[in-house]
Amino acid sequence: MNGGKPFRLGVLGSGKGSNFVALADAIAAGTLPAQVALVISDVADAGILQHARSRGIAAEFLPPGKFRTKLDEDAEPAYVRRLQEAQVDLVVLAGFMRVLKSDFLRAFPQRIINIHPSLLPAFPGLEAWKQALDYGVKFTGCTVHFVDDGVDSGPILGQEVVPVLPGDTAATLHARIQQAEHRLYPATVAALACGRVQVAGRQVVCR
Ligand code: GAR
Repeated sequence: MNGGKPFRLGVLGSGKGSNFVALADAIAAGTLPAQVALVISDVADAGILQHARSRGIAAEFLPPGKFRTKLDEDAEPAYVRRLQEAQVDLVVLAGFMRVLKSDFLRAFPQRIINIHPSLLPAFPGLEAWKQALDYGVKFTGCTVHFVDDGVDSGPILGQEVVPVLPGDTAATLHARIQQAEHRLYPATVAALACGRVQVAGRQVVCR
C-alpha cells in the first residue's frame, strides 16, 4: 500500500502477456497489494491487451510511431500522458520491446522496472535465452531491474537462476525462464508496493 492508497501499476507490453497474467493473478490471490490501473501496448493485437480486457482492466493500443525500436516524438509524450492520467505509481515493462528515452525516464524517476530473460549483465538485448543457449552457459535465468538510459543496464532488484538442461531448445529454455519470471516479477513488485526496497546507487536491497 501507498499511504493507505492502492499502489497503481501501469503495465506496458508488446507480446502475449504471460507476465501481466502472473501479476494480475498475484493481485487476485492477495499476494501483491496493488492494482493495475492501465495496460498499454504498441501492438494492436497483442495478447496482453486481450488478457487485460478479459479481466476488466483498461487496456489501450497506443501507436508507437515511425521507429522500430523506440517511441517516436509524438508517441512518447502520449504514453507519458496516459500513464500520468492513470496516476500510476510504478511503470512495469512486461515484454515491452522498445527502448525508453530520457523524457520518459524523467517523468517516472526510479519508477520504471523491466523483466529481462537472462542473468544480467550477461546477454542484454533481444532473445536473451537464445544468446545463453548459443553461448553454452549451464545456468541462466531472469532479472528484474530499474530502467535507465542504457539497454538492460539499470540497478538490479532481483534475479532467479534457471538451469540450462541437455537437449534444451530455445523454446524449452525460454519456457523454463518464463516460469521463473512469473514467480520473480510479482514478488519484486510486491516488495516495491510494500516499501520494502532500499536503493543506494546500484545497490538495491529488497526485503
Ligand atoms: C519475457 O520473457 C520477457 O522477459 C521478455 O519478453 C517476454 C515477454 O513475455 N522481455 C524482453 O526480452 C525485454 N528485453 P510475456 O509477453 O509472455 O510476458
